[in-house]
Amino acid sequence: MNSVTETCEAEETLSARPEIAARKIAFGLQSNIKPIWNPSKPEWSHMVNGASLTMPYLEPFLNNTMREGMKLIDKDNEKLLSDVKGFISQEAQHYQHHRKYNEMIKGSGYKNLSQVEDKMTLDYEKMKSKSLQWRLAYTAGFETMTMGITDWLVNQRQFLFGGADPKVASFILWHFVEETEHKNVAIDLYKHLYGNEYFARIRGLFGASFHIAMLSRQGYMRMLKTDGRWNKWRSRLTLWKMVGQFFLNIAPAMLRALLPNYHPSKVKDPEWVNQWVDAYSKLEEGEIPILDTSDPEISPLFNQI
Ligand SMILES: [Fe+2]
Ligand SMILES: [Fe+2]
Repeated sequence: MNSVTETCEAEETLSARPEIAARKIAFGLQSNIKPIWNPSKPEWSHMVNGASLTMPYLEPFLNNTMREGMKLIDKDNEKLLSDVKGFISQEAQHYQHHRKYNEMIKGSGYKNLSQVEDKMTLDYEKMKSKSLQWRLAYTAGFETMTMGITDWLVNQRQFLFGGADPKVASFILWHFVEETEHKNVAIDLYKHLYGNEYFARIRGLFGASFHIAMLSRQGYMRMLKTDGRWNKWRSRLTLWKMVGQFFLNIAPAMLRALLPNYHPSKVKDPEWVNQWVDAYSKLEEGEIPILDTSDPEISPLFNQI
């Protein structure tokens, strides 16, 4: 087996974190939330809702894949073992919150989502028969795309979350803070088990990104149809602009992952993410990291609790 941790230590790392901690946060996503959680951006609200719909199907698949790979880690590689455990515990928190959030959406009149959920059940069931290498490449590929999404959400947080429901904005941004914290883990495990098998990794990168984007689209398309927006040209144009921004903003993360010696630790974390982690560490137990979406900076101060 190829020890990626040794390889990476020799190279420049900009964002190594010692420990990956799962945070159990009571966001209260069941009540007093409207599915169009950003009143000035219904199309964007549903893009996020569509992505949320995939999470209780995608993230358990990622965790099962990582759990299977974990059994093959060299016993003396304690860092990787502990990172994989941290990855699994963070993702488990994520999909449990998304499941609650999705129930709220389905209970708010969007009853036509079961077909999408059935397709996701079927897809991930079929994907169980793929090789572990294929599934780990898919996992690492999805995790790479999330780095691009984090850059977009954080850099344009005022545009995307300004004036939005603080609970939803805080929930989504928390998810991506933790994605940043465990960004190295899937690729570390992939490289530990399979070395630099470049083409399988790249196939996973594009395969996973396309698959999740298409599943999310199935969800938001149905929600926009329920709202009567799908066939309105103005709404469709807004949606296309937002989807265009999504692709433009994830492109740098996808392109740099094409480099043969790519490793996520060489990519600097957004400063806002570090500020969030620091501010969270100062909260008392049980306090909820709710952001102030009326703040032009949407600073992670959590001082309105
Ligand atoms: Fe996640
Ligand atoms: Fe993740």
